[in-house]
Amino acid sequence: MKVTVVGAGAVGASCAEYIAIKNFASEVVIVDIKENFAEGKAMDLMQTASLNGFDTKITGSTNDYSKTANSDVAVITSGIPRKPGMTREELIGINAGIVKSVSENLIKHSPNVILIVVSNPMDTMTYLAHKATGLPKHRIIGMGGALDSARFKYRLSEALGAPASDVDGMVIGGHSDTGMIPLTRLATRNSVLTSEFLSAEKLDEVAKATMVGGATLTGMLGTSAWYAPGAAVSAMVQAIACDTKKIFPCSTLLEGEYGLQDLCIGVPVVLGKNGIESIVEIQLNEAEKTKLTASAAAVQKTNGLLTH
Ligand code: LAC
Repeated sequence: MKVTVVGAGAVGASCAEYIAIKNFASEVVIVDIKENFAEGKAMDLMQTASLNGFDTKITGSTNDYSKTANSDVAVITSGIPRKPGMTREELIGINAGIVKSVSENLIKHSPNVILIVVSNPMDTMTYLAHKATGLPKHRIIGMGGALDSARFKYRLSEALGAPASDVDGMVIGGHSDTGMIPLTRLATRNSVLTSEFLSAEKLDEVAKATMVGGATLTGMLGTSAWYAPGAAVSAMVQAIACDTKKIFPCSTLLEGEYGLQDLCIGVPVVLGKNGIESIVEIQLNEAEKTKLTASAAAVQKTNGLLTH
């Protein structure tokens, strides 16, 4: 398993680090446009190999995509992150051009690659990657729901006073402050619905804190978060590398599923060696359906701003 990570910023580097530490990939190539930056991050990470006990070979490349040849999975984190007070949608102007050329370069050298898009606005960038590459839909996956669900589980665990490992929950919809839909109705603590432990008001607070999870951290850190995004990507890459067939909410091209089409938005999918093995259509209640329709309309509005 060879993995390329484009973008040696904090998200890309943390993604490469988690992939290496989990020791399931033979090779990770980090690519960045900044001279020697990816090479430096790769060398720094390689110097943790004996300490952290991994055998993954990490290398860096300054924009030379021939080094990424025959990657099985490529993660696109390049572009600018948001600053405090910015929405993810405001990044579209700069990031669209970057994501388009990066995806084209990647498939030129790795025609069978599975792309994972992280750059924001992520649902629109995933849609753009489809338009730019024409890859089959199972090979283009947007990373949002895996991260948002991890943040949801964090907030649930806080409210329950329980460890996150005892909690399960999922966030679907667009990866935006207003478009995320934390499915509080289905969230559980060790198979018991969280509504058995928490009031509707408390669950609503948990959902609201989850939705602005990225913005809260951007306000605290001065830039977009990286540990949880990196860990979320690495979990998805692992599911593909090890063909686990685990369910993650991911942004995927919908063609009628959930009554939606011609957009990428977060819904549960099964991940395995082919990328998206299947889209899982769960029964939503009326309130959740209304939220998903509104979230889809917002994503489509952002898609309409694409000029590429
Ligand atoms: C976040 C970025 C990765 O939510 O969108 O932190």
